Amino acid sequence: MAATHSTATAATRRCREITMNTQKLIDTAGALVADDKGLLAMDESNPTCNKRFAKLGIPQSEQARRAYRELIVTTSGLGESISGAILYDETIRQQKKDGTPIVKVITDAGIIPGIKVDTGAKDMAGHPGEKITEGLDGLRERLKEYFQMGARFAKWRAVIAVGAGIPSRGCIEANAQALARYAALCQEAGVVPVVEPEVLMDGEHTLERCNEVTEEVLRTVFNQLSIQRVMLEGMILKPNMVLPGLTCPKQEAVDEVADATVRCLLRVVPAAVPGIAFLSGGQSAELASARLNAMNVRSKSRPPWALAFSFARAIQATSFGNLARQGGQRVGGTASSKLPSQVQPGCAPW
Ligand code: 13P
Repeated sequence: MAATHSTATAATRRCREITMNTQKLIDTAGALVADDKGLLAMDESNPTCNKRFAKLGIPQSEQARRAYRELIVTTSGLGESISGAILYDETIRQQKKDGTPIVKVITDAGIIPGIKVDTGAKDMAGHPGEKITEGLDGLRERLKEYFQMGARFAKWRAVIAVGAGIPSRGCIEANAQALARYAALCQEAGVVPVVEPEVLMDGEHTLERCNEVTEEVLRTVFNQLSIQRVMLEGMILKPNMVLPGLTCPKQEAVDEVADATVRCLLRVVPAAVPGIAFLSGGQSAELASARLNAMNVRSKSRPPWALAFSFARAIQATSFGNLARQGGQRVGGTASSKLPSQVQPGCAPW
C-alpha cells in the first residue's frame, strides 16, 4: 500500500515537473520573439571567426575573439533590439576583461543567452556536393552543462545546397531527422531549440526553385519534428528567406521576396510555432532588413507567428567594415576600449 502511494506521489511530482518545464519552454520561446526584438547570432566557430579577423589584420587568438565578443555584448542599448544572443562554446565560458562572465553581462542586459550546439556540416557520404550536420553524440550531456551555465535556448544549423540534381531526398531527410532529434533533446533539457534548416543562396537558381526547395525542406522538417514529439509551442524556426540565387540574373524586388517568403511559410509552418527568426544567409544588412520589414508591413492578415530576425552577418558586417577601415586595432591587443557608437554592432540595420 505504502509503495503504491509513494509511486503515485513520484508520478504526480514528475507530471508537475513536466508541466512546469513545458510552460518555461513556451515562455522562453515567446520571449525570444516578443516586442519586435530578434536574435543576435554571434556564434561563429573559431575557424570562421579567425578567417574574418585575418582579413582585418586582427590576431587570430582566443584573446582577440574574447575582446571582439566583449565589444558586442557591452554595446549600449543592445537589449532594446536583441532578445537573445547565440554564443559559441568558447564564448559561453569566457569573462569580460574585468572578470564578469559573458553570460552575466548578457543576462544583465535583459538578453537570453543561447548556445550553438551542432559541431558543423560535414560532407555527406554518397552525396557529392551535399552536407550533413553532426553533433548528436553526447548532446544530452552537453545540453545539461550549457543549461547550468545559463543557456536557455540553442541552435543547430543544417545546410541544403541547391544545384543540378540537388538537394537529394537523402540529404533533406537526414538533416531533418538530425534537427528533430536535436530539438527533442533540447526540450528534455529545458532549452528552447532554434531549428535552422538553411537553403543556401549560392548559385544561379531562381526564386521559384528556392521556393520549391524551401517548401520541401520545411515540410520534411515539420514531419520529423512531429515524429520525434517536439512541442511546437516551445521552439523557434530559423529559415532562409525565399530568394533568387546570388548569381541568378533575375533578382526580384523587396516586396516580391517578402510575399513569396510569407506565402511559402504559411503553407508549411504550423500556427503553433510562436516565432520565425530568419537567418541573413549572405544578404546585405540593408536588403535583409528591408525584406523582413516588408514581410511584417505587407502581411494583410497577421500571420500566426511572429516574424523576426536571427542575423549574424547582417548585424555584424557593418561593424566589421568599420573595423577594417580602422585596421582592426580596437580588437587586436587593447581589449578594453569600446567601439565608438557609430561602429557598434548594435547600431546595425533595423
Ligand atoms: P547569417 O545571418 O550570417 O546567415 O548567420 C545566421 C546563423 O546563425 C547561421 O547559423
